[in-house]
Amino acid sequence: MEHAAPSMPLMSDLHVVVLAAGKGTRMKSAWPKVLHRVVGVPMIDYVLREAAALAPRTVTIVVGHQAEALQSALSPQPGRTFVVQEPQLGTAHALLATAGVLEDAHGTLVLLSGDVPLLAANTLQRLVERHASLGPAATVVTAVVDESGGYGRIVRSGERIARIVEERDATPAERNIREINSGIYAFALDGLFEALRQIAAANAQREYYLPDLVAIFAQRGRRVETLSVANPDEIRGINSRGELEEVSRIVRSHKNAALMAAGVTIEDAATTYIERDVEVGGDTIIHPGVSLEGATTIGAGCEIHSGVRIVNSRIGDRVVVYNHCVITGATIASDARIGPFAHLRPETEIREGARVGNFVELKKTVLGPGSKSMHLAYLGDATIGANVNIGAGTITCNYDGERKNQTVIEDGAFIGSDSQLVAPVTVGKGAYVGSGTTIREDVPPGALAVSAGKQRNIEGWADKKAPRT
Ligand code: UD1
Ligand code: CA
Repeated sequence: MEHAAPSMPLMSDLHVVVLAAGKGTRMKSAWPKVLHRVVGVPMIDYVLREAAALAPRTVTIVVGHQAEALQSALSPQPGRTFVVQEPQLGTAHALLATAGVLEDAHGTLVLLSGDVPLLAANTLQRLVERHASLGPAATVVTAVVDESGGYGRIVRSGERIARIVEERDATPAERNIREINSGIYAFALDGLFEALRQIAAANAQREYYLPDLVAIFAQRGRRVETLSVANPDEIRGINSRGELEEVSRIVRSHKNAALMAAGVTIEDAATTYIERDVEVGGDTIIHPGVSLEGATTIGAGCEIHSGVRIVNSRIGDRVVVYNHCVITGATIASDARIGPFAHLRPETEIREGARVGNFVELKKTVLGPGSKSMHLAYLGDATIGANVNIGAGTITCNYDGERKNQTVIEDGAFIGSDSQLVAPVTVGKGAYVGSGTTIREDVPPGALAVSAGKQRNIEGWADKKAPRT
């Protein structure tokens, strides 16, 4: 019989708490701070994703201000608990609100703030490992920064951390300390809640400060360790719209850098907006001012010109999207060309090698392989076959005032310019529709449909009319 591998003692008793109850006054917002989006994703989502990489036994999110909005925005997950802190009397008070869930737990608690989204999972991993190997009451993640404004300062006595002082309560000398508290900690759960109850709100804000635990542990002769992160960007907190923008810029630059490292050309990273989950294939070229959002994937060898916005769409290889297209919820097959100034709306499918030109709008429409709609058209609720030509100014009249109706245009058909196709209607294979025709009945395969009356010319009309001024 084989011996079972020794279980990983490190992770087996790990619990995560994320603080997110605060009002976020400095955001000046009607919304919970942690739901403000950093490059399209709520900031707390980054924290929860990195925390999940630790595979903790439980994740407890402390909510309070706008608790319901926050709770409904975050999906329930196994091991995830919400705890309400009401009123919000500070970070120590917030952690105390989890006593009902964690007071009897043993092992390690990792405490995170919902407003520190850049933190990387491997820093958390290092925190847990350092905490496990040194066995202190607490390990505080710190960083040395150029601008320590707004953060709690790490006050050392010799090598050891003695206490943390908040900016408002700091002496001028303490304010000059450049080592700051990230607000991220590992705690030994044993004795934690008992120590938390010793914290008083004896400070400028009349709040219960979690960092006061450091001094309490020190007084009791319990050791506190620190873990310093080399890149202070990682622990930046977001407290204002300005910081939201700065952190968003960092998140964007990381995403752009990762794509460039994987072989994507980004001509101007400063103006390129690519959200976290977007994938882009090698040798694709992205011009300035492009936005790629949501669950968008773009294949290899594509070229995306300036001013294009693509949301939740799938794009094949060697696709060219010319300037100023808006593409949402669409699928574009390889070798297609789109734009400039095209609008592809949800459930649009552009098949291999098809062409969509200027001022063409498609919605819930399949444009078959090799087909073209080059100028000024509205194609909605339509199924268009292969090698169809849609003339300039073609409109599918899909709405009869009550419901949306389907238009079918079969392979090889030719729709003359300025035609209206009053749905439901089918234009058969290889059929022609003359320019300016209003199609109200099906057109058989191979037929020519015309509806305009015979042209009449009135001789000499212009001369008889009053002269133009
Ligand atoms: C906190 C730390 C500071 C540290 C900084 C790092 C305290 C007192 N100060 O300051 O030392 O340098 O983080 O970013 O902890 N929250 C609650 N309930 C409350 C109050 C806050 O859940 O009653 C939550 C907030 O929603 C937020 C987190 O705790 O997610 C931190 O609170 P915040 O007010 O942003 O603290 P800072 O002033 O940034
Ligand atoms: Ca903060």
